[in-house]
Amino acid sequence: MHDDTTRFMADVIEGLGASPKRLPPKYFYDAAGSALFLDITRLDEYYVTRAELEILGRYATDIASHVPAGAVLVEFGSGASTKIRKLLDALPRLTGYVPVDISVELLAQEADELHRDFPALPVWPIATDFTTEFALPAAATHSPKVGFFPGSTIGNFEPHEAEHFLACAAHTLGPGSAFIVGVDLEKSPATLHAAYNDAAGITARFNLNMLTRIRRELDAHIDPQGFRHHAFYNTDARRIEMHLVATRAQTVHVDGHSFQFADGESIHTENSYKYTPARFAELAARAGWQTEASWTDAQGLMSVHALRCRC
Ligand SMILES: C[S@@+](CC[C@H](N)C(=O)[O-])C[C@H]1O[C@@H](n2cnc3c(N)ncnc32)[C@H](O)[C@@H]1O
Repeated sequence: MHDDTTRFMADVIEGLGASPKRLPPKYFYDAAGSALFLDITRLDEYYVTRAELEILGRYATDIASHVPAGAVLVEFGSGASTKIRKLLDALPRLTGYVPVDISVELLAQEADELHRDFPALPVWPIATDFTTEFALPAAATHSPKVGFFPGSTIGNFEPHEAEHFLACAAHTLGPGSAFIVGVDLEKSPATLHAAYNDAAGITARFNLNMLTRIRRELDAHIDPQGFRHHAFYNTDARRIEMHLVATRAQTVHVDGHSFQFADGESIHTENSYKYTPARFAELAARAGWQTEASWTDAQGLMSVHALRCRC
């Protein structure tokens, strides 16, 4: 069995055996999940992408002023690389772009397209889990580094995991590096609820695709139709929670392991933490990053932060 499949199997068996049951959100992103996420970013209700693109467009020059000259830009969770395209025109002196993503097919496709659209920019994709240690390309060794982590993917971490991730990123990017991070902001629960429960049901399909993937890739006995999407804002924890809720009592089988579900029992698939700019700056500071500037969109829905490594 391929290493990635072995890891996936182990994570699924551990997560479904836990109480309460859970699955890591990184497994949303097979080819189908990545395509569904792209559809989510185009939904009226999903303000995150629209608001962040507004910030990157309006403040591109300001943001660029925090990027070291001749830098290599490392994007964590680059997905469709939509947002870097917004910044590239303002960053004429980049010496390389390193998109890092777990979604292998999308990464390869976007690297090819970027190479075609920006032939002067070396593109060095890395297909890996960004929560594990990975080496940057040797060609990037002597250039200053800037990290880019848009989409509020950082909100998918528990706050202590976000802190750990930022500390590891400081190690990967090195002394004096900059980090441009998109962070979703606290807002009305009604706006949040709509964003994760779109009328067209795309977020539900994205969530349920995790089970389709488990059935296909792990040869598991699981019926995605026996589950429904459930997303709500947990006010105390300041996070959206996504769950898959069993619509009937059932037993799921994965690699010889059996997991019993009561009717209504859920699998917790994702958190999306919301911050204030000040709370995020405090978290970043604990991980060794100083906030040099931050920007929000006109409606104050989303924020982008320019951090400097104190390492
Ligand atoms: C919420 S999407 C954001 C995509 C894009 N950056 C944006 O702003 O629209 C998260 C992205 O991170 C990738 N991703 C999620 N977990 C990951 C992990 N542990 N390691 C590497 N990539 C991951 C997904 O494949 C996806 O492209």
